[in-house]
Amino acid sequence: MEKRIYIFDTTLRDGEQSPGVNLNVREKVEIASQLAKLKVDVIEAGFPISSQGDFEAVKAVAEEVKGPVIAALARANKKDIDRAWEALKHAEKPRIHTFIATSDIHLKYKLNKTREEVLRLAEEAVRYAASFGAEVEFSAEDAFRTDLDYLCEVIEAAIEAGAGIINVPDTVGYSTPMEFGEFIASIKQKVKGIDKVILSVHCHNDLGLATANSLAAVEAGAQQVECTINGIGERAGNTSLEEVVMALTTRKDYFGCTTGIKLNEIYRTSRLVSALTGMPVQPNKAIVGRNAFAHESGIHQHGVLQERTTYEIMNPETIGIKTDGIVLGKHSGRHAFKKRLEELGFELTEEEINKAFYRFKELADRKKKVTDEDIEAIINHEVRAIPEKYKLEKIQVYTGSNIVPTAAVGIRVDGEVIEDAACGDGPVDAVFKAIEKVTGFHVELAHYSLNAVTGGKDAVGEVTVKVEYNGKLYMGRGISTDILEASARAYISAINRLMHEAGDEILKNGV
Ligand code: KIV
Ligand code: ZN
Repeated sequence: MEKRIYIFDTTLRDGEQSPGVNLNVREKVEIASQLAKLKVDVIEAGFPISSQGDFEAVKAVAEEVKGPVIAALARANKKDIDRAWEALKHAEKPRIHTFIATSDIHLKYKLNKTREEVLRLAEEAVRYAASFGAEVEFSAEDAFRTDLDYLCEVIEAAIEAGAGIINVPDTVGYSTPMEFGEFIASIKQKVKGIDKVILSVHCHNDLGLATANSLAAVEAGAQQVECTINGIGERAGNTSLEEVVMALTTRKDYFGCTTGIKLNEIYRTSRLVSALTGMPVQPNKAIVGRNAFAHESGIHQHGVLQERTTYEIMNPETIGIKTDGIVLGKHSGRHAFKKRLEELGFELTEEEINKAFYRFKELADRKKKVTDEDIEAIINHEVRAIPEKYKLEKIQVYTGSNIVPTAAVGIRVDGEVIEDAACGDGPVDAVFKAIEKVTGFHVELAHYSLNAVTGGKDAVGEVTVKVEYNGKLYMGRGISTDILEASARAYISAINRLMHEAGDEILKNGV
């Protein structure tokens, strides 16, 4: 019989720990709703004690997202566990995920505790979490670098105290696949009661081995894999959900395992996470990268045209990449547009559809064919954006090799269009300075990136910027066939986000 592997998604917790990623509550709920459509088994929604924002996001996900188990992280102490439970208590299926480090190096330098003390704290934390009646997962942080006998003792104590899921992390991404498989097999062999719980693994990608290590663990008997969409996460990231799921699916003959994942939601989820986190997916990323199904060499193209399986081990449509070539253009009406939105799986209000249709028409005037990717970019970047205090109305840029770049912008602020102009070191700098003049915001630009949504001369450019205010980063995105306009839209969207999320602070301290 095929073995069922549980997919635990931690995009909203470990994934959100990626440098520069800062999702707000609505964005987290949107990602969690998409993860529920993807049919992950568990969504780790956050670490409630870490900030008020995280607490509110976990609470909102717990209250609004049905289907998967909703987990919240807590260190092994009562205060953390109380806060996690407070955020989780209205979830359909809540899980408290409590953890403590067990390796000697963490005990000595981070916790300043003895092995006995940590064992006792782990046991007490699990018992306390279980007293709420929720499912309890226990993680031994830095498990892979922990003395095996001691780790087995801690795990045994956690099981006895009521943990239903035991997670074994390779926190620093140090392991290699064979070692990790053997490590999991040893735990299975040595720990009393291990067969009564779900054995989970959580790998980091510091050596690029997170997926391989997770799969080796599955072969050795692990039943749950913790992962993130696009593999985002601390440092080099976590195990990538799409890689593990598609490896198990494509090589079912080898692994003999299944997951509950709805495969044709993978691509959409990847795009959504990339758009909302502002983390582009590398083009050659397995499964979801732009080139993952592109065939460049003539020999390969010829082969695929004759018989797809000559060079393709997966069908792009399986993960939800549309290859039917339907495109909309400037003659497409609202009805056709709305139908396409539905086919793409978007559930929008009438107001959002109107806004999307307006931007679609603007785009179709400049671009012959508006693709599904363009429509997704409109929805993800602009329609579901935060409230717009500032809205770009017009932009004009003078630039060239021997002139000082100058930009003029017209921005709608509370119903009135305010215009101003500025010079800059380059055209983008000039645009940003003109926007600063109108809005009065002088913020540090911490990040700027430009990507093409689709190919071709009239490709839509997607600009992501991050601006810094009071040590925190605020992201903005903009799209247009004109990259300077996309840059202006992205910068204004970052300022709108800053206003939305730090408005009170700004009113008090100024910018
Ligand atoms: O990497 C890690 O050890 C973690 C734990 C908190 C599960 O993220
Ligand atoms: Zn981790």
